[in-house]
Amino acid sequence: MDIPIINVKENNAALAEEILAAVSRVIRHGQYILGPSVESFEAAVADRLGVGHVVAVNSGTDALWLTLKALAIGPGDEVITTPNTFVATVAAIHHAGAIPCLVDVGDDENLDPVALADAVGPRTRAVIAVHLRGRPARMREIAAIAERNGLVVIEDASQAFGATLDGVPAGRLARAGCFSLHPQKILGACGDAGMVTTDDGELAASLRLLRNHGLMTRDSVATWGFNSRLDPLQAEILRMKLRHIDATIARHRRVAARYHAALAGLPLRLPREAPAEHCVYYHYSIMSDRRDALREFLRGRGIDASVHYPTPIHRQPAARGILIGRGGVANCERQACEQLSLPIYAHLTDIDVLTIVNAVRAFHREPALEALPLTERIQ
Ligand SMILES: Cc1ncc(COP(=O)(O)O)c(C=O)c1O
Repeated sequence: MDIPIINVKENNAALAEEILAAVSRVIRHGQYILGPSVESFEAAVADRLGVGHVVAVNSGTDALWLTLKALAIGPGDEVITTPNTFVATVAAIHHAGAIPCLVDVGDDENLDPVALADAVGPRTRAVIAVHLRGRPARMREIAAIAERNGLVVIEDASQAFGATLDGVPAGRLARAGCFSLHPQKILGACGDAGMVTTDDGELAASLRLLRNHGLMTRDSVATWGFNSRLDPLQAEILRMKLRHIDATIARHRRVAARYHAALAGLPLRLPREAPAEHCVYYHYSIMSDRRDALREFLRGRGIDASVHYPTPIHRQPAARGILIGRGGVANCERQACEQLSLPIYAHLTDIDVLTIVNAVRAFHREPALEALPLTERIQ
């Protein structure tokens, strides 16, 4: 494809010198498991998000399931989330031994608080709210329902580093924020990585044990844990990348604003941003009644538009017999047929964006634009 959906290689190539310097720091200090690089990264994220504790782990999947485990959520418990997410959200619930209960999403593609309220049952213990595509879920309503019903709220903030709701960053909007730091994420390592953010010191302490074999000291095991430590090489690279994160997010938002202005008026549903929200546009997700034809048209022009996610989780072969649904998932089903992600990444050029919007316009028989509208704001 001439224009890929995401271009991690190019993003990293621009930082190659700094990445090599970060790696070199670890090679030289010689602490290759946990140690100062991991601690410095955790401190830098805590400072950035204004959160009490950050526990770095080796993936977003482990961030989620170790958090459930640390909160003693497991066999006999139900955890509510949506079917419109990456499979790991639901896998984490399953691996914790709990039952995933999938409820519908709203037009924002995130957990619908009304569906959540209807789905709470006597065995419901927790809710995982996914901030899909870098747009915060409706956390105020979700928190109110959780409080009424004594539920723990966990954020799956994997796609939303840097997003805020009412000025509060993702990762500080619930009891725990679970992040993937996979190479494709807004804050992405050069390999697998993840972290949990929380103001709950006890939870952080449990997570620190669980990620490191349950070891209190080298020879003393407090609980049976796992090996889910963040690699110091990745920690050092991530700490460096954190210094560039505002520029990365600004570029995602600028691309999104330009898509928004150039595609307005076409028979598409474009993503919206409510005044209280600051979205990071991990995906730029549009809805079209003619999604498959549009996707093929774009691919024919070398533009890699993709569907996230074509098969909702409840339709996955692995889901058979391990989850429950309450209240129907009609919005999710519809969105799975209509959703299309357009390329978005820090090094996508304005010329690429113009090529993409003109291809989308050509599909709808609209004249090409000579230049991108200069709108900076999305409403
Ligand atoms: C919403 C969501 N949850 C969980 C994950 C799992 O993260 P990881 O691949 O780091 O295990 C991802 C990313 O891949 C994700 O996008």
